[in-house]
Amino acid sequence: MSPPANLLLADLASTGVKQIPTSYIRPISDRPNLSDVQISDVPIPLIDLHGLNGPNHSLIIEQISQACENDGFFQVKNHGIPEEIIGNVMNMARQFFNLPASERLKNYSDDPTKNTRLSTSFNVKTEQISSWRDFLRLHCYPLEDYIHEWPCNPPSFRRDVAEYCTSIRGLVLKLLEAISESLGLERDHIDKKLGKHGQHMAMNYYPPCPQPELTYGLPGHTDPNLITILLQDDVPGLQVLRNGKWIAVNPIPNTFIINIGDQMQVLSNDRYKSVLHRAVVNCNNERISIPTFYCPSTDAVIGPPNELIDDDHPAVYRDFTYGEYYERFWNRGLVKECCLDLFKASPDS
Ligand code: OGA
Ligand code: NI
Repeated sequence: MSPPANLLLADLASTGVKQIPTSYIRPISDRPNLSDVQISDVPIPLIDLHGLNGPNHSLIIEQISQACENDGFFQVKNHGIPEEIIGNVMNMARQFFNLPASERLKNYSDDPTKNTRLSTSFNVKTEQISSWRDFLRLHCYPLEDYIHEWPCNPPSFRRDVAEYCTSIRGLVLKLLEAISESLGLERDHIDKKLGKHGQHMAMNYYPPCPQPELTYGLPGHTDPNLITILLQDDVPGLQVLRNGKWIAVNPIPNTFIINIGDQMQVLSNDRYKSVLHRAVVNCNNERISIPTFYCPSTDAVIGPPNELIDDDHPAVYRDFTYGEYYERFWNRGLVKECCLDLFKASPDS
């Protein structure tokens, strides 16, 4: 039997409701306060990757190092991923979310342990308040282990999305070398810590919302993985916390937004920051974002590297497996207190 058609937010939003259901309404102390948000076109560094392997190498490494330390977020241009591949994946996401509900729902599951699933909000099994989002999650590395589970409608979905995943992985591997180097580690240090590596992706669909002041697309959170590569369409919605203030990161065509995740904060022994960010919604436009979550494999042991530990910089975290971390993350829900605090070397450090 197929699930009931009202499971997904898109199908509620498209009925033209004027008031959001109470399950989406945040308490007054936890609302987006959209008029307080600072507007800035380049609130976070924009790094030109052209010349990473050439004469600008040291300059770019230094820019990456500063961005990871100070902002936890940066944007990249001249990243080497062809516009066509980017356009195709965005098209696939848009077409997928515009399929009839019965077709989309073939992929529905509320079980976070499933590798391929369409769901809504964040974790409908554990959360108290819903978020204004539907999402399709896919595992994408190694591709051949997962691609047969992916949607096959639209017909070119698997082909176009696989091509995107492979290109993004190439970019991530370059960034991991650069980030290792920026920490003074061997270039393959981070690569080697990740076991067999993992790559997940989400296609986030935020329908227009009649009361965007009362709810979130995604409330403030840090990403639990190693590093995130976000592609967003041309509708603003991403906001990043800087010095206690939320800053809008408005879209720049053909750039990616890179953010440091919790595992990178651990692997840098707290030098690089996994920073709070959130997605807000708006009355008029649907918004699509496509984050790639690059991660260690579940059995990989993560902890601060010996090279970054000395008397002045004791290990901030204990060693743990990524599997242990990830399970904690999903079971806690998107609460502002960082999951990292549960993995400190000593509870009061
Ligand atoms: C995420 C996320 C931001 C966005 O999916 O983890 O932070 O703009 N998304 O959709
Ligand atoms: Ni995120």
